[in-house]
Amino acid sequence: MAKPRSRYVCRACGHEALAWAGQCGGCGEWNTLEEVAAPAGSGGSGGSSRRRRAAAPPRAIPLRDVVSPREERLSTGIGELDRVLGGGLVPGSLVLLGGSPGIGKSTITAMALGNMVSAGRQVLYVTGEESTAQVRMRAERLGSGALEVPALAETDLATVVAAIEAERPDACVVDSVQTMHSGELSSAPGSVAQVREAAGGLMEVAKRNGTALILVGHVTKEGAVAGPRVLEHLVDCVLLFEGERERSYRTLRALKNRFGATSELGVFEMRSGGLVEVEDPSARFVGEATAAAGSVVLCAMEGTRPLLVEVQALVAPTEVVPPRRVANGIDRNRLAMILAVLARHGGVGVGGSDVFVNVAGGVRVDEPGAALAIALAVASAQRGEPLTDAEGRPLACFGEVGLTGELRYVAHAERRVAEALKFGLGPVQGPRIREAPAGLEMSATLRKALASARRRGGTALREAA
Ligand code: TYD
Ligand code: MG
Repeated sequence: MAKPRSRYVCRACGHEALAWAGQCGGCGEWNTLEEVAAPAGSGGSGGSSRRRRAAAPPRAIPLRDVVSPREERLSTGIGELDRVLGGGLVPGSLVLLGGSPGIGKSTITAMALGNMVSAGRQVLYVTGEESTAQVRMRAERLGSGALEVPALAETDLATVVAAIEAERPDACVVDSVQTMHSGELSSAPGSVAQVREAAGGLMEVAKRNGTALILVGHVTKEGAVAGPRVLEHLVDCVLLFEGERERSYRTLRALKNRFGATSELGVFEMRSGGLVEVEDPSARFVGEATAAAGSVVLCAMEGTRPLLVEVQALVAPTEVVPPRRVANGIDRNRLAMILAVLARHGGVGVGGSDVFVNVAGGVRVDEPGAALAIALAVASAQRGEPLTDAEGRPLACFGEVGLTGELRYVAHAERRVAEALKFGLGPVQGPRIREAPAGLEMSATLRKALASARRRGGTALREAA
């Protein structure tokens, strides 16, 4: 039998080539082409399309007449996970759960399957990384449901596919997709070709049997799930599990979701008995906020709910050229932009200093509305002036900063302000808004917001006295 013809796919951009080359013809990256097996039946050149032309042409139907599948959802028994998924797992869907090692991917999936078994569902846990004995040790910490989960230690793709076919579970976890190996490919497990082949094969059997499939995937240092774009195109939903390993908080968010919003955030805490949902993360993060210089509270929006997080900055003189700019939990480019605006329009220059900005609790805030909080934290750190009020409560703020130093409107102002007021943080510094909610102190520019924040901290008053 002839070996199926191979193709080569770029790891970076997904460009396909018939022959291997050092440089990708699509994006110009070097050493990114990897071998993948050609799909069955695509051997002949143009043969299949010619065959199709001979048969009756396919008929398109008006969308009104398309039968929509029942919106049945499988609850994982973990409220925050269900919410991020958009209301639970969709039967026959493919979810990719990414996260760095040790973050808790195996824990959350084992807990979810345990809950589903307790609810009378059929499940299957495929482990390619750990032995079943190791999986059992984890399950012992997670309660009785987790111990009922049928587990299979297997890395051979064909065997796993056969097991899913035989068991027809409602939900199946494959931990991790990087360990799956197809004998039809010569490349090593974890390579793009193997990961793609595994995801494709598993998806096919899952869709056929209506199994909701969760693929666990490791992320690379850059934060992409290995086999990056190729896999993300394929799956219905990409979830990212993040957090600082040293801290116990974990956040779960959807980067892509065909069945729900991508902005929802779930917050968990890793405890000795597994992951515990944090129902009111604002209360936790505000409770831990410090009153020191360089700390402010950001009224962020995460999906449909407001979230208060502490933004911390440290500005330290340095001899290093160029000085360091370290951003944790915010985008580096956003930090660079804010520092430039601060210098040009806010009168706060940090040219000769290292700047570190951190969102406490290991949360990521990727919205433009975080800019004012970052700017105020850096300004406060630079001057060594805390922005707390007379009672020592931290300053709460939100708003986008424009390149000309103006403060710009961001959505859901009322809900952000209301969340801050709920925790006794007010007035809130923010941009000008037509119908301003009570408790919002509006400024037209970054410079005015800085002055207003310092007045609140009592610095301007002390200086005047
Ligand atoms: P794990 O789910 O194995 O991470 P991943 O699959 O993402 O690599 O969990 C890793 C960490 O979680 C590990 O350091 C131990 C800790 N842990 C707890 O603190 N409590 C628990 O109940 C469990 C099961 C794990
Ligand atoms: Mg694991």
